[in-house]
Amino acid sequence: MGREVNLMKNYPISKRDISGRLTSKTDEDRQIAREFGKEFFDGSRSHGYGGFSYDPRFWENVVPMFQKHWSLSTNSSVLDIGCAKGFMIYDMRRLIPGIKVYGIDISQYAIDNAKEEIKSCCKVANARLLPFDDNSIDVSISITTLHNLAEKHLITALLEIERVSRIGSFITVDAYRNTKEKERMDAWNLTAKTVMHVDHWKEFFQDVGYTGDYYWFFP
Ligand SMILES: C[S@@+](CC[C@H](N)C(=O)[O-])C[C@H]1O[C@@H](n2cnc3c(N)ncnc32)[C@H](O)[C@@H]1O
Repeated sequence: MGREVNLMKNYPISKRDISGRLTSKTDEDRQIAREFGKEFFDGSRSHGYGGFSYDPRFWENVVPMFQKHWSLSTNSSVLDIGCAKGFMIYDMRRLIPGIKVYGIDISQYAIDNAKEEIKSCCKVANARLLPFDDNSIDVSISITTLHNLAEKHLITALLEIERVSRIGSFITVDAYRNTKEKERMDAWNLTAKTVMHVDHWKEFFQDVGYTGDYYWFFP
């Protein structure tokens, strides 16, 4: 069984206006966001990021946590599932020169606009069907992506991670620990289809047979 471990603790915490997003969010906003197109990444705040640009502050201090956790080296290979514009794997290759990195994302827009330096390592694919052979990747990482799948598809995606990963994996998913956090999540959530209490997630991972590590996203 995997471990609950916060490998994202060095990721900068943004000060988001949850209440503003709650009042402005409509079913149409959700529908647009779930297309994961230009609007989601670089459109208005009510449809997603409101501008998704590279900033080394985001991953620079997280990559060393990943590196230490699995002793990643030049000889390792890492897959980022839901890589968006490839910022994490770009920084990983910058900080661990020679490491093999791959990224997949369902968004054609994100891959088209991925950082030039790693664009050739990225492809459009669904987490439900990873275009990699069994045990062909050392470590798979998926940050705030898998909760965008409905529960039955999420099961498939977790089994895909198990299938391709040789050494381990780490995922983060939208979660809550109490009523207050659930309300905050409901206010924040634009795209997620599966959001659970942390204890429920842990049971889910066990039932599915997901053996990788995991942590939570709390807005
Ligand atoms: C909240 S963003 C996170 C991006 C990146 N992992 C990060 O932490 O900056 C979620 C990403 O998941 C991608 N995504 C959503 N559903 C997906 C699926 N079924 N398969 C692959 N990627 C998916 C979206 O296009 C988007 O890039």
